[in-house]
Amino acid sequence: MSYHPEASRLYPTRIDLPEEVRSQVAIILNESLATTLDLKTQVKQAHWNVKGLDFYQLHELFDELATELEEFIDLIAERITALGGYALGTARVAAEHSILPEFPFDITDGQSHVTALAERYAPYAKLVRDAIDKTNSLGDADTADLYTEVSRAIDKRLWFLEAHLQG
Ligand SMILES: [Fe+2]
Repeated sequence: MSYHPEASRLYPTRIDLPEEVRSQVAIILNESLATTLDLKTQVKQAHWNVKGLDFYQLHELFDELATELEEFIDLIAERITALGGYALGTARVAAEHSILPEFPFDITDGQSHVTALAERYAPYAKLVRDAIDKTNSLGDADTADLYTEVSRAIDKRLWFLEAHLQG
């Protein structure tokens, strides 16, 4: 796997998971950390810049989404360190390694903001779901469980976003 060279760095620990498992899982976690950080900043971007008649409810909803992502960022980063790994959580690393495209800066209305976020939550949901299987196959049920928790919440948020675009 090619990622940031520090993504698989391990400290000594008394945890019983094998080193090989921990370094592979740390890479997966660091990759999702970068994308989660990126997604959180994009949701804040939407929170600040959305305009239109439904401004206030979207402004509030986007803040709720950002707060939830902030919790996931902490969960993911601290799982890395619990495994003896090194969490890579700076804006530079996030920008370099996120799977998401940059937020569109030319939109103003609510519908466009909701669409832009749905288009980012969907690939993020897939990334997280794939990580459940990957970490499960590696034998780390706890990290798979963490991803399952995130996955369920992100699926629900994608529904919230898409509900604004349907009907
Ligand atoms: Fe705010």
